[in-house]
Amino acid sequence: MVIDIIAVIPELMTSFFEHSILKRGADKGLLEVNLIPLRPYGLGKSKQIDDYSYGGEAGMILRPEPLANCIDELNSKHTYDEIIYLTPDGETFVQPLANRLSLYNRLLLICGHYKGIDQRIRDLYVTREISIGDYVLTGGEIAAIVLVDAIGRLIPGVMSDGASALTDSHQDGLLAPPVYTRPAEFMGLKVPEVLQSGHEARIQAWRDEQSNVKTNQRNTTKIEK
Ligand code: 6GU
Repeated sequence: MVIDIIAVIPELMTSFFEHSILKRGADKGLLEVNLIPLRPYGLGKSKQIDDYSYGGEAGMILRPEPLANCIDELNSKHTYDEIIYLTPDGETFVQPLANRLSLYNRLLLICGHYKGIDQRIRDLYVTREISIGDYVLTGGEIAAIVLVDAIGRLIPGVMSDGASALTDSHQDGLLAPPVYTRPAEFMGLKVPEVLQSGHEARIQAWRDEQSNVKTNQRNTTKIEK
């Protein structure tokens, strides 16, 4: 899979992609991430990419021409399954959407900045708008990292233990049960007997029960706000 990312400050993402465990996927040719700076597509000598908003709302807006030129150039070379704009007013990113996006060949992510991008880019080019949660970030770069991480780890072969993605929290709509490693007793707290029993059916029943307990507790908290 290839993920191209257009950003005003792509440097915000370089360290993450260079050091992430997703790097293994990149080294194996399973996941390629390309960071594309918007600035070179800017207008005039000063390479202007933003401007004031019509109607007088406070904050700068990314102008349509640099984005359109950048996207046109990419579209002339590649075919995208989705062109995704990262924005706090998009659909909320959840695990089933990560699963679906992980099946694609090539995605283009557009990171907004300032007060967002000109609406006409959204109308003309964008096929999907995604938010990573109900709060506002300074730009889409962090959201792009979140998407690439969540999607990348689902691509077969990127993670060392492929089967483990299936037992993640959220993968079946439930939160993951508690996990333990050695020692069997730590600061007076013991690993539950059942996990040391070697009895697969009982262990699975315990995990299911713990998943349900945790999911019910957390969902209650969520609704309370
Ligand atoms: Cl995708 N972008 C920004 N700027 N803020 C956000 C977001 C995205 N998702 C949640 N907050």
